[in-house]
Formats: sequence, C-alpha cells, structure tokens
Amino acid sequence: MKVFYLAVILAPPSGPSTNLVNASDLSTFSFYQKGSVGEFMGFFSKTVAERTGQGQRQSVQENTYVAHVYNRGGAEQLVGVIITDQEYPVRPAFSLLTKMLDDFTAKVPQSSFGNPSAISFPEINVYLQKYQDPRQADAIMRVQQELDETKIVLHKTIESVLARGEKLDNLVERSNALSAQSKMFYKTAKKQNSCCTIM
Ligand SMILES: *[C@@H]1O[C@H](CO)[C@@H](O)[C@H](O)[C@H]1NC(C)=O
Repeated sequence: MKVFYLAVILAPPSGPSTNLVNASDLSTFSFYQKGSVGEFMGFFSKTVAERTGQGQRQSVQENTYVAHVYNRGGAEQLVGVIITDQEYPVRPAFSLLTKMLDDFTAKVPQSSFGNPSAISFPEINVYLQKYQDPRQADAIMRVQQELDETKIVLHKTIESVLARGEKLDNLVERSNALSAQSKMFYKTAKKQNSCCTIM
C-alpha cells in the first residue's frame, strides 16, 4: 500500500488550475524514472482536478495508480488530490483529503494563492508520511458521516473523465508542465504498450 503524491490545487470553475502545494514519495521508482513520474503525477492531478465539479469526489484509475480527487468548492475553490496504488482503500483516501483541505484553509490565507512559490504548508509532507498507513485515516473517518452517504465514482481510465473530443495524447503534447523528456517517455511507453512504467 502506498501514497505517491498529494496536492492542493486552486481550480476556478472556468479557466486553468494552479498547483499550490504538493508532496511526493517516489522512492519505489528508479532514479531515471523519478523526474518524469513526478511530472506526470502533477499533470494527471491537474487534468482530473479541472474536470471535477464543485462539491464532487471522484477516483480515476490509470494503470496501477488511482487518483482520488475532491473538489471542495466554496469561496477558496480548492481541490485536493491524492495518488495511491490500487490497494490503498478509498474512504481513508477521501478522509485525508478533507482533513488536508481544512488544515490548508486554516493555515494559508487566500490572499497568497496568487503566488504559490511563497506558500508554506510543510504539513503536507507530514500527511504524506503518516498516511502511508491508512489506519491513521480511519480514526478521523469515524466522525465523518458525510462520506458514508457520498457516492464516489471510480473511472477506469483518465480518458473517461475527459470531455468529448479531448484526447490524452493532445493534452500531454500541449502541457507546459511536462518536459520534452517526459513527453518522449510517454510516447515510448505508449508505443511499447508497456503499462506501469509511467502514468
Ligand atoms: C511541486 O512542488 C515543487 C516544490 O515543492 C515544485 O517545484 C513543483 O513544480 C510542483 N509540482 C507541480 C506539478 O506543480
């Protein structure tokens, strides 16, 4: 069981999203893969965050990874993303997202969202470490009736959250967040049809 990536993203209902803070644990990837895998996790998170409506929770699987996404909406327009492996249980993942977003809005003023590099939220690294064990999240779970009543949609591929006419290949090609090397990595992996090397 593994948590790879956590992010808080500013996602206004119209227009592009902005990554405010993130933390990753890519220790299971090789030295050569880490850079591109990290970039793809960021890309994957933003792509899904922009396609998750306000108040909505959804999970998107891609190969052996699952991105759980919660758009908290409200005045702050924040989305939480956690990328885990397939074994990580769904409810603790969403309970962590709620907790992280509550903590973030309590500690980081909205006025600083315009300058993400100045945001300090070291707690995200603590969450990443602590919640490698999902039982840590279980304790908060008990007070969260809300989640019991929420239906969480699981999409089997990232393509299924894209709008009609959108193609993952084109999004990858156009992304400014991905380096030329990562785009090449994506194309090669796709050509070889090798699952699991990258998102
Ligand atoms: C994640 O955060 C680091 C700084 O901690 C930043 O350099 C990087 O661009 C961020 N990743 C994304 C996808 O925004």
